[in-house]
Amino acid sequence: MVTNVPTIKLNSGYDLPMIGYGTFGGKDAPHQVYDATKVALEAGYRHFDTAFLYETEEALGKAIRESNVPREEVFVTTKLWQTFHKPEHVRPACEKSLELLQFDYIDQYMMHWPMAWEFRGYEFKDIKVKDENNDIKCIDVPIIDTWKAMEQLVKDGLVRTIGVSNFTIPMLEDLLRKCEIPPAVNQVEIHPSLPQEELLEYCKSKGIALTAYSPLGNPGYSQGGVIKTLEEPVVLQIAEKYGKTPVQILLNWGVARGYAVIPKSVTPSRIKANIEYFKMDPADVEAITAIGRGKPVRTCDPVVMFGISNDVFSEHKK
Ligand SMILES: NC(=O)c1ccc[n+]([C@@H]2O[C@H](COP(=O)([O-])OP(=O)(O)OC[C@H]3O[C@@H](n4cnc5c(N)ncnc54)[C@H](OP(=O)(O)O)[C@@H]3O)[C@@H](O)[C@H]2O)c1
Repeated sequence: MVTNVPTIKLNSGYDLPMIGYGTFGGKDAPHQVYDATKVALEAGYRHFDTAFLYETEEALGKAIRESNVPREEVFVTTKLWQTFHKPEHVRPACEKSLELLQFDYIDQYMMHWPMAWEFRGYEFKDIKVKDENNDIKCIDVPIIDTWKAMEQLVKDGLVRTIGVSNFTIPMLEDLLRKCEIPPAVNQVEIHPSLPQEELLEYCKSKGIALTAYSPLGNPGYSQGGVIKTLEEPVVLQIAEKYGKTPVQILLNWGVARGYAVIPKSVTPSRIKANIEYFKMDPADVEAITAIGRGKPVRTCDPVVMFGISNDVFSEHKK
């Protein structure tokens, strides 16, 4: 099916559809993503998000290869896990993702988090690196060293676009000063409890596209203070005005603000409904942005998730 979903022209020259499909879903996702991706392709999705961590690359790649949608029409992002940050581990990690996807190239390879952990091997079992005290051993690998190895993947034709995820403005500033190929995308958490206005403005000014993860605030997940996005009165009121669902309003709020959104669902009716694009009045966009202004709350707080007390993420608290 052809949709009217707009695209963003990336600084790498490729087009990123602004409504994509996320494939992170915990332990059941590897089994659900094959069928869900087939539904998504049929519904018109051409932008898919995965990561080595999610264990969904294999199912996603299989569903895409078996479909009648030409490979060239699909944009797939996958990500480098932080146990692979040493420059000599970057290419083998990328090759492992290519092998799981069974693709000749990756559309976008992204640095998943701006920190490096001890390497223990290339299998899924090797990337859970908490020790007996539940601590993670961080290692000292400068971001630019990992990035240079990622630049080489573009030069060698394994990857078309490189990006980052969970980067703050100071981290982007530093990378932009040192890199040869600038990041095309920064994938970060954005929803009404975390509108990320400053980061959005900064990235626009530097020609870096944003992709919003957890664009619905991951309803159903224990949210640690994130508003109930689908029950928020402002969102409900705007949904009624447009005759759309709260989820469709949240996704199109993101598109109207100029970034891509990658909602995850394994429910066919939701997958189909989530890709409906429509324009929203600037006043309605602003009303949703105002909900979480000045009181940011995350579902994916690295300090909480990884148990790392790290100054690197102090910017995330702002
Ligand atoms: N770069 C990173 O560090 C990072 C971190 C987190 C996530 N991500 C990416 O972003 C993607 C999306 O984020 P997310 O999965 O955290 O959260 P999300 O997309 O905000 O929320 C997913 C949840 O919303 C439900 N949902 C989806 N459509 C719905 C609808 N129309 N009505 C009601 N509920 C609906 C899904 O349920 P069902 O599946 O049961 O339908 C699922 O429980 C991930 O899959 C992953 O690809 C990246």
